[in-house]
Amino acid sequence: MLLEGKGLFKSYLDPMKVRRIVLNTLNFSLDKSSTLSIVGKSGVGKSTLAKVIAQLTSYQGEIYFEKKAVSSMTRKEKKRYLQRIPLIFQDPISSLNPQLNIQSILEEPFRIQKAAFSPSTIKKLLEQVELPSYFLQKRPGECSGGELQRVNIARALALRPQALVCDEILASLDAKNKERMIQLLLQLQSTWQISYLFITHDIAWAKTLGGKMATLKDGAILKTDSVAPSAQKGLVSSLRF
Ligand SMILES: Nc1ncnc2c1ncn2[C@@H]1O[C@H](COP(=O)(O)OP(=O)(O)OP(=O)(O)O)[C@@H](O)[C@H]1O
Ligand SMILES: [Mg+2]
Repeated sequence: MLLEGKGLFKSYLDPMKVRRIVLNTLNFSLDKSSTLSIVGKSGVGKSTLAKVIAQLTSYQGEIYFEKKAVSSMTRKEKKRYLQRIPLIFQDPISSLNPQLNIQSILEEPFRIQKAAFSPSTIKKLLEQVELPSYFLQKRPGECSGGELQRVNIARALALRPQALVCDEILASLDAKNKERMIQLLLQLQSTWQISYLFITHDIAWAKTLGGKMATLKDGAILKTDSVAPSAQKGLVSSLRF
C-alpha cells in the first residue's frame, strides 16, 4: 500500500455561517504502481480531497504514506512525503512562474532540494514528456496548454515521485491532446512504476487509464470499480456526469 486515507473529514463554513460537510469520513487506498481514478459531479469534493492529500488544507482523519501516518511525521518526513506525491492542477499556466523559462522551471525542484543536476538531467526530463529541447528557452506564455501540462509533469518527475495526484489535468486540453496525455501517463507508469490518483469528471478517461475507479458522492466513496482491461484500449464513449 502506497497511500491511504482513513476517515477523512472536511467541512467549510459558507458565507451564511452554515457548516457544509464536503468530505464525510472518506476512505481510499492507492497501491504502488497503480491507478485510482476519483470521479464525481462538480462540487462533490474531488479537489478538496487532492488538497487534503497535498496538506494544503486542514482536515480530520488520517493519511498514511507507506503505512506511516502523515500527522505523526517529522518535518523532514513530511517534506519527503510531499515530494513523493506531487499535485498537478487543472490549469497548467497558473502553476508556472511566467517570468522563468522552462529550463529554470525544471531546475527549480533541484535547487529547492539542493540536489545535484546537470544540463543533461534537465534535457532528459523534457524528453520524458516528449518535448523537444528548444522548449527549454521558452517561457510559459509561449507554450500551449498541452505543452505546459507536460512541463508540469516533467517538473513533478524531477522529484522522483511515487505517485502523481492529478486534479483534472486534461480539462483544458482538446480531445487529441487529452488522448496524447493519457498515453504519456500510461508510458510513464510502465517505465517508472508511478501510481496515479487521477481526478476527473469524465468516466471515459478514467476507463482509458485503467486501474480502479472510485465514485465520490455525498462526501464519501460510493463504490469502487475495477476498470476492465478491454476498456483501456481506447475511448469508447464520452460519458459525462
Ligand atoms: N475554500 C473554500 N471555502 C468554502 N467552500 C469551499 C472552499 N473550497 C471548496 N469549497 C466548497 O466545497 C465543495 C467541494 O469543492 P471542490 O472544489 O472540492 O469540488 P470538485 O469536486 O473539485 O468540483 P469540480 O469538479 O467543479 O472541480 C464545493 O461546494 C465548494 O463550493
Ligand atoms: Mg475540482
